[in-house]
Amino acid sequence: MYNLLKGKRGIIFGALDPKSIAWKIAEKAHEEGAKFVLTNAPIALRMGTMNELAERTGSEIIPADATSMEDLEGLVTKSVEILGGKLDFVLHSIGMSVNVRKGRHYTDQKYDFTTKGWDISAVSFHKVMSVLYKQDAMNEWGSIVALTYMAAQRVFPDYNDMADNKAYLESIARSFGYFFGTDKKVRVNTISQSPTPTTAGQGVKGFDGFFTYADKMSPLGNATADECADYTISLFSDLTKKVTLQNLFHDGGFSNVGVSQSVMDYFDKEE
Ligand SMILES: NC(=O)c1ccc[n+]([C@@H]2O[C@H](COP(=O)([O-])OP(=O)(O)OC[C@H]3O[C@@H](n4cnc5c(N)ncnc54)[C@H](O)[C@@H]3O)[C@@H](O)[C@H]2O)c1
Repeated sequence: MYNLLKGKRGIIFGALDPKSIAWKIAEKAHEEGAKFVLTNAPIALRMGTMNELAERTGSEIIPADATSMEDLEGLVTKSVEILGGKLDFVLHSIGMSVNVRKGRHYTDQKYDFTTKGWDISAVSFHKVMSVLYKQDAMNEWGSIVALTYMAAQRVFPDYNDMADNKAYLESIARSFGYFFGTDKKVRVNTISQSPTPTTAGQGVKGFDGFFTYADKMSPLGNATADECADYTISLFSDLTKKVTLQNLFHDGGFSNVGVSQSVMDYFDKEE
């Protein structure tokens, strides 16, 4: 360990179970000396196993629905109180598509579902930042990170309306990041992570094929949740103070590969 987050305070959204990317980030943030509050939707707290993570990392859990301004206002106020000062980092690791859950095809969405998924997966990031900004809850040189996926730039048919949500999320990072940077010297970035076997990831139709294909296409192979946690810690640390408004690919090189030898070999065999 490098004590990269020694003395830093934060809020971590989205640790549901030990497979969650946010869970790994919480473990590493703790190892690197951070103090933080864990939060998730009230219903997820009933289903998940967050108490175990809270005990292990000496953290408090504050339930908050990330679509509710009232919940978010309470969360930020209480976190600053509990942690004894303003925040240095915030992780947004939240995603959910009702259309995906209910098996609706992209071309046949139920728009109530679309709106709900968009609010949870994208607008919630704006709401979180708006509350942090208005309460002046971030320290200078603080860092805010949200997790995203490359379906924001390229077509992955089964990713459904989450592709649109991720495009919106990445745009919010740039737009809000401008004001957070200019007014408060806080950086805002998104990390575009490889397919990862978590509850949200495995909810996408055909996940296994998708996962293996990405792995075969990436010169370094898929990035794991643990590796994503390492990368996120670097963005929370003082080693990346001038990185902001970026969508950062953490995908073993997948995003810049046209085709790999291993995928070519597979199709050669088919001839
Ligand atoms: N798993 C992948 O393949 C993958 C790849 C790239 C990006 N991501 C992104 O990583 C992030 C974390 O997902 P994960 O893969 O760790 O899955 P996960 O299912 O463990 O995490 C998703 C979290 O969102 C929370 N959530 C849902 N609705 C909420 C609400 N209303 N308020 C607060 N929290 C709510 C869930 O309770 C859960 O903790 C998501 O943004 C996801 O899109 C995942």
